[in-house]
Order: sequence, then C-alpha cells, then structure tokens
Amino acid sequence: MARNPRYDILFEPVKIGPVTARNRFYAVPHAAGMTNSMPHMRAAFRGTKAEGGWGVVCTGYVSIHPSSDDAPLPFATLWNDDDIHSHALMTEAVHRHGALAGIELWHGGGSVVNRTSRLTPLSPSGTSWMATHVNFMGNQRPKAMDADDIRALLGWQAQAARRARSAGFDIVYVYAGMGYLPYEFLLPEWNLRTDAYGGSVANRVRLVRELLEVTREAVAGECAVALRISLEELRARPSAVAPSEAHEVVTLLAEVPDLWDVKMDSSPTDCPPSRFASEGSHEPVIDFVRKLTLKPVVGVGRFTSPDSMVGQIRRGVLDLIGAARPSIADPFLPRKIDEGREQEIRECIGCNICISSWHDGVPVRCTQNPTIGEEWRRGWHPERIAPAGSPASVLIVGAGPAGLECALALGRRGYEVSLAEAADDIGGRLRFETRLPGLATWARVLEWRRGQLDRLGNVTVYRGNLLSAADILELGNTHVVIATGARWARLLYSPLEIPVGALEGPGVYTPDDIAAGAELESPAVVFDFDNYYMGSVLAEHLARHGLRVSYVTPAGHASAWTIMSNEQPQVHRTLFGAGIALHTLTRVTAFEPGELTLANLFTNAVTRLECRSLVIVGARFASDGLYTALAARTADLGAAGIRSVARIGDALAPGALVHAVYSGHRYARELDADPATLLYRRDAPLPLT
Ligand SMILES: Cc1cc2nc3c(=O)[nH]c(=O)nc-3n(C[C@H](O)[C@H](O)[C@H](O)COP(=O)(O)O)c2cc1C
Ligand code: SF4
Repeated sequence: MARNPRYDILFEPVKIGPVTARNRFYAVPHAAGMTNSMPHMRAAFRGTKAEGGWGVVCTGYVSIHPSSDDAPLPFATLWNDDDIHSHALMTEAVHRHGALAGIELWHGGGSVVNRTSRLTPLSPSGTSWMATHVNFMGNQRPKAMDADDIRALLGWQAQAARRARSAGFDIVYVYAGMGYLPYEFLLPEWNLRTDAYGGSVANRVRLVRELLEVTREAVAGECAVALRISLEELRARPSAVAPSEAHEVVTLLAEVPDLWDVKMDSSPTDCPPSRFASEGSHEPVIDFVRKLTLKPVVGVGRFTSPDSMVGQIRRGVLDLIGAARPSIADPFLPRKIDEGREQEIRECIGCNICISSWHDGVPVRCTQNPTIGEEWRRGWHPERIAPAGSPASVLIVGAGPAGLECALALGRRGYEVSLAEAADDIGGRLRFETRLPGLATWARVLEWRRGQLDRLGNVTVYRGNLLSAADILELGNTHVVIATGARWARLLYSPLEIPVGALEGPGVYTPDDIAAGAELESPAVVFDFDNYYMGSVLAEHLARHGLRVSYVTPAGHASAWTIMSNEQPQVHRTLFGAGIALHTLTRVTAFEPGELTLANLFTNAVTRLECRSLVIVGARFASDGLYTALAARTADLGAAGIRSVARIGDALAPGALVHAVYSGHRYARELDADPATLLYRRDAPLPLT
C-alpha cells in the first residue's frame, strides 16, 4: 500500500550537524538490560529497529568511567578500548539498515554508589540522591568534586567520545538528565559550589558547555554532538532574565549542540504509565525549546499515532519524533506508516513492563511485543515467523491474552486454527480490567490482535462456545491448547508471607466477583498482597462508585511492585486523592461482616476496622480443570487423533499480561520445531583485545 501523503513530512531527512537522518523517526537512548555482556543480543535488538525504519537508533546509557557504576542496574560501558568492538557490533547492525547510530555517554555522579568498582562517587557538592527504592538506596555518599575531578571528568568524556567514533557511532551524546552528574550541576539543591561552576545559571551550565566542547573536539567533525537534558525542574524555577531557568539554560547553550534531546527529570514523569499520563505528556515542559534554537529538537511522549507526530512537527514543537516504548512495542512502526499500514502498528499500552525489566536487570520485556530481546538468542523476528511445520490443525480454548497471541502467531505460520471462547466476546480478563480506572489503553492488547486475526482466513473464532473435554475429543484437532486463565483465591496471608486459610462467607469477594457484577456494601476494604495494579485500581474503582474504602497491605507501600513500573508515586497520590485510607505492613486475620481484624506484619499488634465488604486481591490459581480432564484420557486422545494437549498463559501459571502474551507466542513459535532448537543461545561478552 502507498503511504498516506499526510504523513510525508515524517519521512523528510533531517540534518544533524555533519550527519543526516533519513527520516524523523528517532529511537532515543534507552537501556535494554543487554549490557556489554550481551553484545549480540543488543546488536540484533537495535538492528531490528533500524530494519523497521527508524532513522536514528541510540544505545542506552553508557558509562564513561568506573566512577559511574550503576550495578546492579544494567548499564553499558565505554571505559577503555576493549569496549569498542562490543559497541561496533551494534553500529554495524544499525548501519546495515540505513539508520544512524547514537550513543548516550553517561556519568551518574551522586546518583550512583559504585557497588562494583568501589570508586568514590562524585558530585558537585557532596550531596547524594537519597532514594528509597531498593536498587537505588545506598550507604556510600559522594565526594564534592574539586578542580582536578572536573578536569578528569572532561577527559573521560573526550576519551569515550573518541572511542564512540572508533566504534562507528554517528551521534555522540552529553547526558545532562535524570539526576545524573551534569544535571546535578544545573540544580541548586545538588550544586552548592561557590566557584565558577556554581551560583548563577551561567555558572551552573558551565560544565555542560565544557562537556559539549570536549565532545565536539574529540569527534573531530565526524559525528554530531547531541545534548540530552531534563527540563522539568528548571522550567518550574523562575529566572530574572527569562520565563524560567530552563529558558535561560537553553538560551545559553542554544547553538552549542547539534541536536537537542529534551525530556523530563524522573523516570515516573519521563516514562509515565498510561494509567496516569496520555500521549504527548512532555509537551507542556519542553514546548519552548524549538523557539530558542536553530538546531533540531527531538522529544518523547509515548507517540504511537502518526497524526500526533505530524502535529508535533507542524506546530513547531519537535523536529524529530523520539520514542523509547513505541519502538519497543513495534520496532517496525516507521515502516508501517511508510507503507500505508499504520492500522497495523502494535501500539504501546504504557504498562511500563519494559522499564520494570530494567529495574530487574534483565533483557527488556514488552507486553505487546513478545519478540523483543529475543531477536538473536531465539531468532524471533517481530514481523516474520517460520511457516507451519506440519499440516496440523490447532484448537485453542480461551481467547484471553495468551490464547489470542497464540492464535495469531499460529495463524501467521499457516496452521488451521480454531479459537473457542466461552464468553460472548474475546479478550478474557482484559474485558473487565480495561474498564477499570486508568486501564483503558491496555485494551490495545485485545484490539490489535482482534484486528490482525480478522485478516487471517485460517483462524476461526467461536464466541459463546463453552467446550467440555468430550466436545474437544469429538472435534479431534491435531493439537489442543488450553488457555482458560486463572481465578483469584479467597486466601489470607501468613506471617511467613505465604497465602493461607481460605476465607469463605458473606461479604468476602475477589476481583472475579467484581468482574461478575457483585454489588458491594460500604465500607469496603481491599486487602492486597498481589502487590501489582489490581488492588489499588479496584480500591479506586470502588471509591468512584461511592463506597468508603480502605486499603490494607502487608507491604510497605500500596501496589508495592509498581515501584518497578514507575506507577507507585501516582498510585499513592490517587489513593490519597480518592480519600482511601492506607494501612501498610498490615495483614487481615479475621472478618465478620461489620468488623475486620488486622495484625501488624512484624509485631502482630491487633487493630480493627469497620468493614462490610472485604475484597481479597492476593493469590491466583490456574483454571486448568479442562486440561487435567483431557490429560487423564490418554487413550481417548490417541483415538481422537489429538497428538498433544498443552496449557499456556494463566492456565499454566498465573502472571502479568506480559507473561501470558509471551507464553502464547512461545507455544506458537515452538510447535513442530526441532527440540534441539528450543533452548535459546546464550550470549557472552566479546574477548578483550
Ligand atoms: C526500558 C527503558 C529504559 C530506558 N533507559 C534510558 C536510558 O538509558 N537513558 C535515557 O536517557 N533514557 C532512558 N529511558 C527513557 C526514555 O529514553 C524516554 O525518555 C522515555 O521512555 C519516554 O519516552 P517514550 O514515551 O517514547 O517511552 C528509558 C526508557 C525505557 C522504557
Ligand atoms: S512493555 Fe508496555 S509500556 Fe513498555 S513498550 Fe511494551 S507495551 Fe509499551
């Protein structure tokens, strides 16, 4: 199909200093959990984005010196020449597909604690980041940098820039964002210096200017020099000479970099979940930059709609459309727009599972795109899949996230697929969950697959079709896949942090009951030891329906795991805003309609709450009765010509959506595959030169 002329502007080349991007699609710096220890995986992952049409593909943060050591978070290094060839694998992969390669050189300053290198952390004035998240908390404080330290830092940046040029990069960054060292010089809370690097904005910006200058000298006109800078805090600060300190900083440096890459200051605002922020959420902070510089500006905002992208350019906000998450969810997003297939874009849902994998220190995962990170080690391509290995027919029972993904991938392989769903419509748990506060965007998991399945002639979807084991035997497909989901349990929680003791009786509910339309009496208590989104979302949902709601959790925070997905600060603000009382480090021990008994997790001190409805959001167990019934009938299966019965998704092991989608996809990739190919290739660092 031909490209819609409305989107032609997105495919104009953009000159960035000495290099030219082929179009305006810019995959911004983002870590992917694949450090120098997984160079082939990293190269294939970024090369696939270039193949998918991105004009520029960047690395994640790359440390310039061992005094910037973020372990256990997964960061890359360019500490000496030994690191060059590892990065060269990526630049080759990116160049092979006609894109430019960018590298984000990074020093973490007082935000890192150098757990591995054990070097003394550096900062402008001896101030550290006093974060409370387990991976960021530390008990090593930084030293205040003296003149020698500043000279050394400039030297490290220059050496790293030279190595970046040798590795084949086209764009080399100075990174003054997100609490890291150059950013620390910009903010007066970090920077209490009384020398030429502290005090006035002109002084605070000096280090960034010098970093840009040494980088430019080091790349000797062969690479563009980019500045990535966080402007949220600076924009909120008044300035005597400009509308804000952010305006002042941008004016002072206006033409110094070849490219401005502008963003927010903290991960929860820079990379906000769709639950709390919509597409383009950065615009109110960064919209002024384009007016103060002649150099191209790139910015982000979970852009998935080509119309929003065109709007950003036509309204003079951005020159290049930056993307981290949309390029993970669909590495082929630019190509699809180019080929008039924008309806096929697998849009990011803003769930932030990807960022959670960075916090976990593992290769990036994505709810929408199960192939991400698997390009090299499993040979999974986001757009191509091996043809069917046999003329088999496959029956999938259950059209939730796992069943849908499985049907789609098997259908694309060419298998004859029947997808049977007991409910009147497909979607499984998504049908209820996407109606809950803030989760509407997650419906893209369902709607994208619905749209793609509609195009396949070899996948038939049967709705309102409740199948028994006998029905399945009668149908006699070659393979049967059970994707019947999971159920929430009415279990409480022991001091050993294990689900125990079923609590049946009036007034006790689970999310499944609410999905089924149960009417709850006020006051209600949500007892959450699932720790992800469901507990806090349901509390908000019930409060919106007029109930007085309390939230109880044995964890230290509401929705404790959501620290991993950048949701936790806003979860707390939302609960507080909805008037929901929060009881942390607390478990429920008993309930009678009217009164709930609680115990402190550590002291066992007892308290009581008025409560007429208790919602337990804790353990989930597979709904695998159909699987068990079939698996027990080996002889009947053989007689019916059924060669295999398998479980996928929550019916195998309950988990987040990302696990269900992955499980369905993996089954489809591996059907009829040579068992020898089922283990993934293990990546390893390149040998030292
Ligand atoms: C998994 C992940 C890792 C990230 N790592 C980095 C990083 O290494 N350096 C950086 O400057 N920003 C990083 N970011 C932030 C993104 O570059 C970007 O600013 C943010 O995700 C907003 O863009 P988006 O809405 O297109 O995702 C990361 C984001 C994600 C999702
Ligand atoms: S994991 Fe979620 S937020 Fe991240 S890219 Fe995928 S869909 Fe988007």
